[in-house]
Amino acid sequence: MPRTTILVTGGAGFVGSHFARAAMDAGRQVVVLDDLSGGASSSLPSSIPLIVGDIGDVQTVKKVCATHGVGAVAHFAGKIQVGESVRHPDVYFDINMVRSLALLGALRDEGITACLFSSSAAVYGNPQHVPIPETAQCKPVNAYGATKLAFEYALEAWEHAYGLHWAALRYFNAAGAHPEGAMRECHEPETHLIPLAIDAGLGSRPPLTVFGDDYDTPDGTCVRDYIHVLDLASAHLGALALLEQGTTVGPINLGTGRGYSVREVIETTGKVLGRAVPYVMGPRRAGDPPKLVADPSRARELLSWRTERSELTTIVEDAARSRQPSDRPKTAESVHRH
Ligand code: UFG
Repeated sequence: MPRTTILVTGGAGFVGSHFARAAMDAGRQVVVLDDLSGGASSSLPSSIPLIVGDIGDVQTVKKVCATHGVGAVAHFAGKIQVGESVRHPDVYFDINMVRSLALLGALRDEGITACLFSSSAAVYGNPQHVPIPETAQCKPVNAYGATKLAFEYALEAWEHAYGLHWAALRYFNAAGAHPEGAMRECHEPETHLIPLAIDAGLGSRPPLTVFGDDYDTPDGTCVRDYIHVLDLASAHLGALALLEQGTTVGPINLGTGRGYSVREVIETTGKVLGRAVPYVMGPRRAGDPPKLVADPSRARELLSWRTERSELTTIVEDAARSRQPSDRPKTAESVHRH
């Protein structure tokens, strides 16, 4: 069997499921490995095979690779909450490092030499300057960012020792949803600004709490660089094409280069919903840098990447559509349990 299938770990999660679908739409064979601890099988089209299993289970990974003719991996599986990572670093180092290393070992043994990795702007910590280029100092301020950076180092070492071609895609604030509304941002518990603002506006959650308005930013609230999940998916496909040609991409920022404050997000969400988002002002959230904005030049040049849906209004419109109660995702027909 030719080895052309993409193994998508964490493919039932928010970014992973959007990538899996984009890859399928681009004509690629995809197989998802997910333990469903964070994602849901219903976020995937039924035509994509889903293996319910653990990335650290070497035998399962090897079997999936051999059975499905896997030639490349897109590694999205992992824990993603900054606050939780500070309280439970053991879990974060276990899944994002130890089990992810077991995955890498299995891939090496299977002769797979292309790896896309879902990294994060959290590797930078509190940056000295924005916009942030990839060459900025990486000094994570929480266990989540530390595990992402540590795994990037592992990928680099794997390149030198075993010839792995890799890309570490450092997302800024992933948001939005597929415009058909069939897949949505779904974290439990939800901690992200845009889904919480939409739900507060729709009345399905209490008023939003704004975490601080005394930052050194134009309106006192934190500034973030929101990037549509479909634009993330297209950057992954561009990076994968390079890896499959035998080029290592290394670390690459995925953001727009334009930041929005929490207040601006609340205002835009109100306009999109046609009703004001109720909110209360609260204290700062521990660990929030005032301003995180990408310098995305490298992605633009190397991947010829252009964002298409990352205007804030489009992001919020797509996210809001996916959160309307009538548009909840359908259940996938086939779930292969391992
Ligand atoms: N915010 C609020 N109220 C809320 C939720 C968020 O005011 O109820 C604010 C936050 O303080 C922050 C902004 O909205 O200023 C965005 O917060 P999110 O939780 O949506 O996203 P973060 O910027 O905290 O986190 C994102 C990713 C992380 C990644 C990090 C990089 O979700 O995975 O960027 O620093 F690590």
